Amino acid sequence: MQKGVCLWVVLISFGFIFVHAKVENGKVLIDGKSRIGETDNDFICATLDWWPPEKCDYGTCSWDHSSLLNVLFDQSERSNPKIKCDLKNKIFKNAIKAFSPLKIRLGGTLQDKVIYQTNNHQKPCNPFIKNTSELFGYTNGCLSLSRWDELNRFFQETRAVVTFGLNALIGKTVLANGSAFGAWDPTNAEALMRYTVKKNYTIDGWELGNELSGKGIGARISASQYAHDTLTLYHMVHRVYKGIERKPLIIAPGGFFDPSWFMKFLNKTSKTLNAVSHHIYSLGSGMDGNLTARILDPSYLDEAAKIFKKLESTINASSSSASAWVSEAGGAYNSGQNLVTNAFVFSFW
Ligand SMILES: *[C@@H]1O[C@H](CO)[C@@H](O)[C@H](O)[C@H]1NC(C)=O
Ligand SMILES: *[C@@H]1O[C@H](CO)[C@@H](O)[C@H](O)[C@H]1NC(C)=O
Ligand SMILES: *[C@@H]1O[C@H](CO)[C@@H](O)[C@H](O)[C@H]1NC(C)=O
Ligand SMILES: *[C@@H]1O[C@H](CO)[C@@H](O)[C@H](O)[C@H]1NC(C)=O
Ligand SMILES: *[C@@H]1O[C@H](CO)[C@@H](O)[C@H](O)[C@H]1NC(C)=O
Ligand SMILES: *[C@@H]1O[C@H](CO)[C@@H](O)[C@H](O)[C@H]1NC(C)=O
Repeated sequence: MQKGVCLWVVLISFGFIFVHAKVENGKVLIDGKSRIGETDNDFICATLDWWPPEKCDYGTCSWDHSSLLNVLFDQSERSNPKIKCDLKNKIFKNAIKAFSPLKIRLGGTLQDKVIYQTNNHQKPCNPFIKNTSELFGYTNGCLSLSRWDELNRFFQETRAVVTFGLNALIGKTVLANGSAFGAWDPTNAEALMRYTVKKNYTIDGWELGNELSGKGIGARISASQYAHDTLTLYHMVHRVYKGIERKPLIIAPGGFFDPSWFMKFLNKTSKTLNAVSHHIYSLGSGMDGNLTARILDPSYLDEAAKIFKKLESTINASSSSASAWVSEAGGAYNSGQNLVTNAFVFSFW
């Protein structure tokens, strides 16, 4: 989107009603003379997640083959009518190119349990397997180097700008109450990073962890330990990208905003962090029976701006000069709601 082009939209009357395929026409009037806000070139972005097809919420298994590990490359596999995503699909490719450059963040809950295959790693490279006794309900899953090659070819071809979320829980002990202790073990992440540089794949930013800040989702890391792990990532990037002029950004923690946690974290990462990232789900849970009304109520959209402002003022009051990023904002958490977040009404959000 171009800077400064943002329209004040006045809905005079709105009347698309889907009842037994009956369509009513309505009128939308756009007053282009005044604006209420601005977006910059980085406004449009998307996430590719790790959830396997078995991930279901409230009776709907919405992810299908859309994950980093199983979006399809092979046209021959398309004979399965249940599979809708395909990296060779022209429409999918052109949609990404149309936003060129589209910012794509690779990550999500299971990123902290991903093991990266390495050149000298002889163990089998298995996908996530559902197991309700495991943290987040799945075993660790493996990203193979051949899959990483295919994904990067796809990103190069579609000119996407990629941010990769690293496995921040590796090496830590997660207690039953969710508190994670110990330092991040960066060995496996460094192997992936070295391979990535050797192959000349461009990664715009390396982000550490997913939703482990503050109270955390499933698991949490203290602000001071997180700052220590971020320093580890900083040293790693400077080691691996030695001699390469343009270094990738260092981004963390990709979690929900918590003023005191973020303040502590920012003060301790003022020399290491380029962007402080947070997630926004101000619509609430995908299970909410009133979700459609929330989508059509503009005050929920304003919530996002309020959280963003609080983060900005926390940065301003800290010793950090990191920029504020939203690295995930799905609308309604836990995979949305069938027939709502995958329906026309969601375009308002
Ligand atoms: C599930 O995980 C638990 C805890 O790690 C383990 O003891 C159990 O054997 C696993 N179950 C299966 C079916 O693999
Ligand atoms: C979780 O348990 C550990 C060990 O008992 C304790 O140190 C920690 O404070 C607990 N965390 C929370 C959030 O209660
Ligand atoms: C690596 O990629 C950059 C930018 O994509 C390109 O300018 C450069 O020529 C590439 N180098 C090699 C060795 O492929
Ligand atoms: C549903 O949301 C709308 C808009 O926020 C609100 O006016 C209404 O009271 C809500 N209804 C229930 C049952 O929560
Ligand atoms: C933070 O500081 C910037 C730069 O001085 C300023 O433009 C912005 O309004 C401040 N934000 C808040 C929420 O205080
Ligand atoms: C963070 O740093 C700021 C600015 O140096 C200072 O005013 C503030 O008290 C510090 N807060 C914490 C929790 O460390």
